[in-house]
Amino acid sequence: MIHFSGYDDVINRIYGHRQEHVFKHWDELNDADKKHLLDDLKNIDLELMEKLYAGKPQDTAAFTPAPFIELPKTAEQKAAQAKAAQTGVEFIKKGLAAAFVVAGGQGSRLGCEGPKGMFPIAPISGKTLFQIHGEKILAYSRKYKTSIPWLVMTSVDNHDDTLDYFEKMNFFGLGKNDVFIFPQNMIPSLDTDGKLVLENPCSIFKNPDGHGGSLAALSGSGTLEKMKERGIRLISYFQVDNPLIKIIDPEFIGYHILYGADISSKAIPKAYPEEKVGVFVKFNNGRTGVVEYSDLPAEKTTQRGKNGELLYRAGNIAVHLFSLDFIESLTSEKKIALPFHTARKKLPVYAGEIEGFKFEKFIFDAITMTERSVIMETLREDEFAPVKNAAGVDSPETSQRLMIELHKKWLTQRGVSIPQRVSVIEISPLTAVAPEDIPSGLTVPNKEEVEL
Ligand code: UD1
Repeated sequence: MIHFSGYDDVINRIYGHRQEHVFKHWDELNDADKKHLLDDLKNIDLELMEKLYAGKPQDTAAFTPAPFIELPKTAEQKAAQAKAAQTGVEFIKKGLAAAFVVAGGQGSRLGCEGPKGMFPIAPISGKTLFQIHGEKILAYSRKYKTSIPWLVMTSVDNHDDTLDYFEKMNFFGLGKNDVFIFPQNMIPSLDTDGKLVLENPCSIFKNPDGHGGSLAALSGSGTLEKMKERGIRLISYFQVDNPLIKIIDPEFIGYHILYGADISSKAIPKAYPEEKVGVFVKFNNGRTGVVEYSDLPAEKTTQRGKNGELLYRAGNIAVHLFSLDFIESLTSEKKIALPFHTARKKLPVYAGEIEGFKFEKFIFDAITMTERSVIMETLREDEFAPVKNAAGVDSPETSQRLMIELHKKWLTQRGVSIPQRVSVIEISPLTAVAPEDIPSGLTVPNKEEVEL
């Protein structure tokens, strides 16, 4: 057994849980590195890791499709929508809402180094995902004559790069005091025998704890408390990969308020059965939740109702509203934390690439933690154009095409004519975040690419 003054407890725990292989390089380490390794180990919950390794089979059978607020068709539905929008506007104007992006991911799947938020996506200007989101938040703040704080969750891998980029871009014109950047937590991965693995001789290999870790990170970083002090009551959550996101949506916020919801979610009809989006379901205990596409049984993936529509068609676009009080109750110690999901992955560890398990929390599991949850249907073309793959579906090409189409639609809705020659249009968020913001009398020049 190894020895190091002041660390008997940690060392005993490691041997007690049969993880002493992590000391493989002990004799080659200097004192500072030995201490580094022991400090790293001190923070690992070995009981939790054992439980996660043992796992339990997921129950995927007991659910039916979840009900949702459909796109308005009748006069009554349209009146309800208008009421929601008005309620939302009043709420936003009082400065009660904050925007929250989860941006822990890297751009590696898109073939770019660094944070995914730094991926250039705007079709003409080449603005990055972060810049588009930041300018939208600035535009909403101006539109509703308030300041909307922007919370940005990073991961250990991209935190410093993200901070540097925000500084360099002068926080996209938002006040520095209105932007809160904090990293998410990490959790060790395990090899297929349930053993911890080394990232290097003096640290343990870990992965970010999933976007579901964002609630604990909000609380643990002190950001939740700061929001409470500012009087914020609602947090509008979105993923960094979707440039079409309506970050602050009065109608959605209005429904959340009017229903007295703890958490609300947006849904779009799935484009085709195998589309890689989770679906909203109602579990047997009466609560709503999301079943991930990879967990939806094949027969349910293709099952259709009487009118030919997919039965499980309410697709999750990972857009949610959280009441601040609800996050507080979830993250306070008395409450149940979100569960971890296990994925078998290749892990690039110190010894080379190995097979192992990564554990992640999913944000949508928070939906099942309350009875007060609302799902609102929305139009795909108006707010969902994720950039996930370098080519093919959900790629920069498809995302840009959707951005151009939407901006053309806005202009047409406002009666602005678009000359035939124009093939690419980009509307800056600082010009408009919704069709009604487009100034009347605007004309579109007769050239191929038009930036407004
Ligand atoms: C996700 C959802 C899926 C939804 C789809 C919509 C999961 C498990 N599934 O799929 O139900 O239909 O989006 O686009 O989420 N992130 C972090 N930290 C992490 C992990 C992820 O910040 O530890 C962020 C990423 O930066 C990204 C977002 O979460 O913005 C989504 O993660 P990703 O792994 O791309 O999820 P998808 O498989 O695309």
